[in-house]
Amino acid sequence: MEITLNVNHNIHKVLVESDEMLLDTLRKLGYKSVKKGCDTTTCGICSVSIDDELIPSCSYLSYRAEGKKILTVEGLKEDARKIGEALTAEGVEQCGYCSPSLVVAIHTMLKQYEDPSDEEIKHYLVGNLCRCSGYEGHNRAIKHYMEVRHDGSK
Ligand code: FES
Ligand code: FES
Repeated sequence: MEITLNVNHNIHKVLVESDEMLLDTLRKLGYKSVKKGCDTTTCGICSVSIDDELIPSCSYLSYRAEGKKILTVEGLKEDARKIGEALTAEGVEQCGYCSPSLVVAIHTMLKQYEDPSDEEIKHYLVGNLCRCSGYEGHNRAIKHYMEVRHDGSK
């Protein structure tokens, strides 16, 4: 079937199978930041924002995304750069495999919560497995990025 997807404000008409998952469709469209990290919907590496909700694209049927706004890290541009800098400053960006989905998770979280608590940050990070580092650095990086935003210097 042919569906129309809005990805990073770009409109794509694309042929998909009825059981095709959004992860595969996004990669087919060239959004290669969206990656597969497991077969059990547990790693979060495939996560994208759909209408400002963080969703694992490996278990979301592509046709369900019609009429919705999909965001991947490619669409976040300046915000992605600044979040990436905050992560790098804390030394948590190592192999980088988890980074695109982590940046999308942080961006989506800050759309939902202006000033997330430690618990809310944990809730968002828990769905995004990082095999290389602990989560304290991620937490510090998020807080640093939030301060930069509150300073109005973003
Ligand atoms: S690939 Fe692991 S949750 Fe989607
Ligand atoms: S930096 Fe390697 S998985 Fe997170």
